[in-house]
Amino acid sequence: MKRIIIKGGNQLFGSVEIPVAKNSVLPILAATILCEGETAICQVPKLSDSLSATKILQTLGADVLWKDKKVVINCDDATGYEISEDLMQTMRSSIFFLAPLLVRCGKVKITRPGGCDLGDRPIDIHLSGLQALGTTVEEYPDGTVICTAPTGLVGTDYTLRLPSVGATETLIMAAAKAQGTTVLRNVACEPEIIDLADFLIACGANIKGAGTKVITIKGVPKLWGIVYTPIPDRITVATIMCAVALVGGNVKIKSSRPFHIDALRDLLCSAGANIVDIKEGLCIKCNKRIKGLGSLQTGTYPDLATDIAPLLAATLLKSKGDTSINDLIFTNRFICSNEFVLLGADTKIDGSTIHIKGVKELKGSVLEAKDLRGGAALVIAALASKGTSTVTGCEFIERGYEDIAKMFSALGADIYNM
Ligand code: EPZ
Repeated sequence: MKRIIIKGGNQLFGSVEIPVAKNSVLPILAATILCEGETAICQVPKLSDSLSATKILQTLGADVLWKDKKVVINCDDATGYEISEDLMQTMRSSIFFLAPLLVRCGKVKITRPGGCDLGDRPIDIHLSGLQALGTTVEEYPDGTVICTAPTGLVGTDYTLRLPSVGATETLIMAAAKAQGTTVLRNVACEPEIIDLADFLIACGANIKGAGTKVITIKGVPKLWGIVYTPIPDRITVATIMCAVALVGGNVKIKSSRPFHIDALRDLLCSAGANIVDIKEGLCIKCNKRIKGLGSLQTGTYPDLATDIAPLLAATLLKSKGDTSINDLIFTNRFICSNEFVLLGADTKIDGSTIHIKGVKELKGSVLEAKDLRGGAALVIAALASKGTSTVTGCEFIERGYEDIAKMFSALGADIYNM
């Protein structure tokens, strides 16, 4: 099993380029099924999830060519409309193929998606939204889902039960070529949703309001493939910022586009880090023990992102004072807390809340990653722990980071893959 070895104590210095956002790339790769001709998505990181997404496209009959970090896709000859359970189980994002396949083929057969065990992750809003657009949905006890819309989808006015990121993206893709106009209400406003809409608009879609609570989509008959570069990965930015705030240092985080991490930036500044905008992006400096932040909670964008919560928790393990973070999105977000305790941290979980009492010192240990962002949080905590730590379960971390060890060793950390 792949593992990461970390000798804690080094501060972080230097500059880092940010990859494009995993949570933009994954819906956009699925959306290429809606397009005629060739689409090229640029700077795609070689994550296990992006490789799983391109494998699904290939099994559906699409031509997929990785040219370094550019992925060139042509779905003109793709006739498949079934995705096997093995492929569906590789990640949560396999659900993004449901709507584009339904639009393209009029019928889709999938099973329930996989993904990190963050708590119950139903797909009811995806399915009820598709039903509102004219889809017949059959669900079976074994998890198989068959959706049919032989005469195409018809625009409607639909309010999401809650602002699900994935369901918002599913319904934008479903409505893009539907007959008539679709109004989606109580949608999610995450930057990755704006990115998906921008991609589809560049392909010829008529979408207004992405990033607000109401999105209006006028269906168009055809979408044409383009060359597109998604936005930077704000969770990778957050990962680096949380690490610097914990271990100290001075790091330039570079990108020509916005990072969308204002909620975290404000919290780290109030904890004692120094963060300034620079022409290449932003610079974070920290050379003191940060302060606890009291009672916090996550929320939908632009509030503190659930994906950032475990990273921030790691940052606060050695703070002066106490912090609690309640994740309002997932019930099982802080499974990494039990591993923090192995380092000598004073943390405990109460439902979907982690309680942290800052300690002066952490000591290296053997840690097991059990989900993507919790795994990254363990790496951050180990960077600040005396002695050597080993992090196992790295296949979870590889779902969202090309090589987290390489990223941090380039900034001066004593960390390597085994
Ligand atoms: C997306 O997951 C992200 N994944 C997650 O990032 C992120 O944590 C999450 O949004 C919240 O921001 C991708 O974009 C690939 P949701 P998603 O649907 O779409 C409930 C990472 O680490 N819900 O917004 O699955 C659900 O159970 C990953 O990069 C329903 O009840 O999240 C959860 O409690 C982890 N019914 C809440 O909504 C549904 O049909 C939010 O889930 C759909 C969701």
